[in-house]
Amino acid sequence: MALPLAPSAHHLPPYMINMLHHSATNSDIPTSTSNPPLEVELRYPSGYTERFLLPHPNSTRPQKDRTLHPIDDLTTTISVILHLTTGPIGPHTKLCPLLHSAYTTSNTSLFTTTLSTLNQLLSSPLKLTRPSTPLIHHFLAQLYDRSIAPHLKPLTTRRAPKKPTSAIYGELQPAFLSTIFKKTALGPGQVYIDLGSGVGNTALQAALETGASAHGLEREAFPHLVSALHLQQFHIRCMLWGLKPGKVQLYHADFLHAPHLTDLLLPEADVVVVNNFRFEPETDVALRGLRRGQVEEGGEGCFYEAGGCGEVEESEEGGGEGEGEVWKVEECAYAEESVSWSRREGVYYVSTKLR
Ligand SMILES: C[S@@+](CC[C@H](N)C(=O)[O-])C[C@H]1O[C@@H](n2cnc3c(N)ncnc32)[C@H](O)[C@@H]1O
Repeated sequence: MALPLAPSAHHLPPYMINMLHHSATNSDIPTSTSNPPLEVELRYPSGYTERFLLPHPNSTRPQKDRTLHPIDDLTTTISVILHLTTGPIGPHTKLCPLLHSAYTTSNTSLFTTTLSTLNQLLSSPLKLTRPSTPLIHHFLAQLYDRSIAPHLKPLTTRRAPKKPTSAIYGELQPAFLSTIFKKTALGPGQVYIDLGSGVGNTALQAALETGASAHGLEREAFPHLVSALHLQQFHIRCMLWGLKPGKVQLYHADFLHAPHLTDLLLPEADVVVVNNFRFEPETDVALRGLRRGQVEEGGEGCFYEAGGCGEVEESEEGGGEGEGEVWKVEECAYAEESVSWSRREGVYYVSTKLR
């Protein structure tokens, strides 16, 4: 049975990139004409440009609902690109601080001449076959700032009294996910699944960073709706940066009642991530049942926090489907700032199917 998919922008014609790309302040146009924003364009590795609306430094308007200040976004983008082309001590090390100070002192002519020098340096299209980790993390910060930050309040406060605790939203941070992808050696040609994918963060990062085919299943309507916008912006921004991610599919589905998952996806899965923070114990038990007889040999699952998957040694799954399977379960530590709901370090589990 086919599941409802978030629309994909895989075949988006290039001209749409110019219609859809964001200004760094979205539609946050100041009403005051005395402190107008500075409007500039930045060239990306694909040759396409993005418009940035930089609020006047004296502007008292707060940056609503955004996580990345446009001037920091602009200078970090330039640094990340030039670092790849001219090395760590390239011209950006002098020109980006100059751009920053021209902005803060409202020296518009110095700002525009410095930016045009930088745009010239960025003018030869760059082929980014294997993006660096700083590039991936900056790409994700930009995407998050434009697609998720404006929806964060309703995402994190939609807690209708009758909703189960498993509907509570939370995120694994990009650096932590990079560690998981390295640890599980996820790569091109492999299949990654996030059970309870929220707005699709982990699936998008998996496809971008590793080239794997990534799938996410989310039961709640609002995060799934945001994931559709997120996926579309992801593809547009991949074109802007000249990046070729793995395929991504985000489904509106309950992973406990999705024949598509059990019949087609899990038998092919190499890595399955479950962020079971706040899942009910019965969901954790059902998840254990789900993995039996499903995940490929060598396939891995990551389970977080005090979930129901807490065995820490090799164990034989007995009874019914998956009888005789052997799973190795490793308890691992994650660093501070790895998850959105706590700044503290914690533990997670990596289960590997041995046979
Ligand atoms: C803590 S969030 C994790 C989001 C994302 N995986 C991450 O780690 O960044 C858990 C998500 O699982 C979803 N969820 C809970 N039970 C589910 C189910 N049975 N089927 C699909 N999604 C479910 C919730 O709605 C929520 O968005």
